[in-house]
Amino acid sequence: MLSLLPLVLLAINGAIAAPSDNQGFDAQTIAKVRDNMLNISTHSWELGAAAQALIELEVPSLSVFSGNRLPPTKSQNPSVRRAATDVFDLATRIVRARPPGSPVLIDGDGAAGDPASLGVAVALTGWTRTNRSDLSFDEAAGLQLDHILNHVPRAQNGAISHRESQVQLWADFTYMVPPFIAYEGVLQTGGDKTWLLREAYNQCKWYREILGDESGLWKHIVLGTGLLDPTHWGTGNAWAAAGMLRVLQTITHSDVSWQFTEERRNLTGWVEEILTSTWPHQGNNGTLFNVIDDPTTFADTSSTALLAASTYRLASITNNHTLIPFADRALQLIKDSVDGNGWLHNTVDPLTFFAPSPPGTFSPEGQTFTILLHTAREDYVRGLHRK
Ligand SMILES: *[C@@H]1O[C@H](CO)[C@@H](O)[C@H](O)[C@H]1NC(C)=O
Ligand SMILES: *[C@@H]1O[C@H](CO)[C@@H](O)[C@H](O)[C@H]1NC(C)=O
Ligand SMILES: *[C@@H]1O[C@H](CO)[C@@H](O)[C@H](O)[C@H]1NC(C)=O
Ligand SMILES: *[C@@H]1O[C@H](CO)[C@@H](O)[C@H](O)[C@H]1NC(C)=O
Ligand SMILES: *[C@@H]1O[C@H](CO)[C@@H](O)[C@H](O)[C@H]1NC(C)=O
Repeated sequence: MLSLLPLVLLAINGAIAAPSDNQGFDAQTIAKVRDNMLNISTHSWELGAAAQALIELEVPSLSVFSGNRLPPTKSQNPSVRRAATDVFDLATRIVRARPPGSPVLIDGDGAAGDPASLGVAVALTGWTRTNRSDLSFDEAAGLQLDHILNHVPRAQNGAISHRESQVQLWADFTYMVPPFIAYEGVLQTGGDKTWLLREAYNQCKWYREILGDESGLWKHIVLGTGLLDPTHWGTGNAWAAAGMLRVLQTITHSDVSWQFTEERRNLTGWVEEILTSTWPHQGNNGTLFNVIDDPTTFADTSSTALLAASTYRLASITNNHTLIPFADRALQLIKDSVDGNGWLHNTVDPLTFFAPSPPGTFSPEGQTFTILLHTAREDYVRGLHRK
């Protein structure tokens, strides 16, 4: 028992690294998870999230989670370009497939927010392109930005609707849109830059105002008519935490970070709020449940993976390791839930929200979140070694 004592003290103190001593994923498994992710991702938001996973996995120096300043240099060296091939190819496929002058990057099935999830990959491809006379990426990203900012209805507090035809807020929006607005911000200069960074921040703030409640968690879908979901859906909270972390790091690595001290503190607090409200509900084997605070709902690996990823990311940023033991348990569960062919089992069906994926089918989001968990955890462990 004595040997446990230092661990307990570390956990209470929270300022010193609690060990993250279980092994991560092996490279072979991750390669299969990635192939399967690309194979089954078809909807706009699935492709957008997959693009972010490719950036983090294959070209981490261009991720907002690297320590690198934003914007990145336009002239990336050949090895970075090679690493970015999959990201550039995906963005190119999207831009070439879109009708000329389209206000959105891809059809969103009525969702205003989801097509914007591809915006970072498209903007990054345009920014670093070698053919400087090819303006198609900048134009596509610019029209998407204009559409989401100026042509989609807003709630009274300013929150942009996740849907085209009525004002309705989905927690998912937080991952799809604010990170793109912020990224477009760092590619601008002067007042445009600070305005866009502030708008990205404000969207997070306004979404939390409406979706957040006294539990510390976010509701999934509110306002408007039709499909509503006031529960604390695991994946919705995961989208919110992970999206706010991307906004936070985009602002932090910009050259106007100093103008956003309070905003950065707030974003950090809002991510922490979701995570500290989540982990007390963790099941014995490391899982979270489909509705976070309702253990009568089924165990869901998808949300478990992205909330664990967000926990490693937050700890890397704050140097507060208090929640890492929860993330480590979740990591172990996710490893145990990925089969030899690289498929994540026990996911929620991302199209119904309320049922597990039907037998024999797998979740594009679950595949992506496994990659995001892997990349977040790798960065976390690397960060510990640097200290
Ligand atoms: C997915 O994999 C199957 C079987 O390997 C293949 O036939 C199919 O073309 C792939 N689909 C995509 C979109 O990559
Ligand atoms: C560069 O882009 C322009 C505009 O799209 C195009 O006409 C030209 O063929 C491209 N050049 C190369 C070498 O691909
Ligand atoms: C930060 O959050 C607090 C509490 O929610 C709020 O009162 C304050 O206005 C926020 N600051 C900014 C700059 O939004
Ligand atoms: C974890 O526990 C839940 C029930 O709490 C169960 O449904 C799930 O199958 C378990 N997962 C694994 C990998 O053991
Ligand atoms: C570290 O994080 C925990 C959990 O979020 C929090 O309760 C605690 O106050 C934090 N410690 C410090 C020093 O900020």
